[in-house]
Amino acid sequence: MVKILFVCLGNICRSPAAEAIMQKIVGDKTIFCDSAGTSGYHQGELADKRMREAGLKRGVHITSRSRQITLNDFEDFDYIIAMDHSNLKNIKSLGKEAKNNTAKIHLMSEFSQSYSGQSVPDPYYGGEQGFEEVLDMCEVCCQALLKKLIKE
Ligand code: 4NP
Repeated sequence: MVKILFVCLGNICRSPAAEAIMQKIVGDKTIFCDSAGTSGYHQGELADKRMREAGLKRGVHITSRSRQITLNDFEDFDYIIAMDHSNLKNIKSLGKEAKNNTAKIHLMSEFSQSYSGQSVPDPYYGGEQGFEEVLDMCEVCCQALLKKLIKE
């Protein structure tokens, strides 16, 4: 089973949405999805209510609880997917401390033609539209990521 860890800063908005969308796309068989934050600010919390409600409106059930990324994750997961460039930088830097850093580390938008190279914008301090944008981007980028995984 391929294991993917989606990572953002707080693990209460973007990466829980990406986790739920990817798991919805693939079902529960061949790919295991999880998410984490580079920070532990929201450890143990459900995802932000605005994110959960925006997801529910399009049939995406976001149920995860926030946790911080650990050094073991670099060995446990096949892929670590960063939601923005800052997350990517922090993840790569943390990975240097891991005993076994076997995970492939990528930016969320890397495989999408329409969003290539873009960060998934942090919606936390903005309005409702930001949460819709996160979901739109995650839907497109997860499909693109899945396509890449099938090719590999
Ligand atoms: P996320 O959004 O990284 O997509 O979960 C954030 C949530 C909380 C904070 C920052 C970003 N915060 O600073 O508390």
